[in-house]
Amino acid sequence: MELEAIKKAYRRYARLYDLYFGAVFQPGRKAVIQRMDCRAGQRVLEVGVGTGLSLPLYPDGVRVTGIDISPEMLDRARARLARESIDRRIELHVMDAERTSFPSDSFDKVVAMYVVSVVPHPKRLVDEMRRVCKPNGEIFIVNHFHSPNPIVGTAESLLAPLSRLVGFHPDFCLETFVRDTKLEVVDKQPVNLFGYWSMLRARNNKEAAEPLSFNATA
Ligand SMILES: C[S@@+](CC[C@H](N)C(=O)[O-])C[C@H]1O[C@@H](n2cnc3c(N)ncnc32)[C@H](O)[C@@H]1O
Repeated sequence: MELEAIKKAYRRYARLYDLYFGAVFQPGRKAVIQRMDCRAGQRVLEVGVGTGLSLPLYPDGVRVTGIDISPEMLDRARARLARESIDRRIELHVMDAERTSFPSDSFDKVVAMYVVSVVPHPKRLVDEMRRVCKPNGEIFIVNHFHSPNPIVGTAESLLAPLSRLVGFHPDFCLETFVRDTKLEVVDKQPVNLFGYWSMLRARNNKEAAEPLSFNATA
């Protein structure tokens, strides 16, 4: 899916996003933030922060930066910060998570919640998460991956051609994702309804990243 199609999909979703995807995905957001075990003073980057449903969950004293490609989704996140008077050091920026403007080694932890099956180039996203994460930092991912259940898996494959419309790839495969990104997963846990989504914790194996090449098309 190209960036313009993603922006269009999330422009459409923004108003009702929390209603559709708020409560149902909140256990995964809570689980990953708990697993991140953030300490006061640490810097966290959340890519594809969306309407900021996760932001109230971070412990006090953590310096959170949230980025998203959709201005409409981020407007909702800003409204949430104001509405819930969240008194933390939270910065929000419209930015492409595959190509950020942060210096290398800026963050202790980098997290993507329900984003890796949305972006145009998941490998570029992971390489960028690696770049901005400190060498001894950690990368966290929560996502739905293609189901091994034959009925659910078939339904996902049938939905796959509609990815531009639904705003994500329903048939996103965990094995392919881990192989292509060379993510060094140290921990994997099921989250959300029926454990149908997964939370991955990975060491920041910077050596696995490929040199940046923004002109590449694949
Ligand atoms: C399914 S939503 C998840 C939002 C949020 N993380 C949550 O937990 O609800 C995917 C988000 O990723 C954002 N996104 C997609 N591609 C992106 C990119 N290349 N850079 C930054 N954000 C992106 C979308 O705009 C959308 O807000």
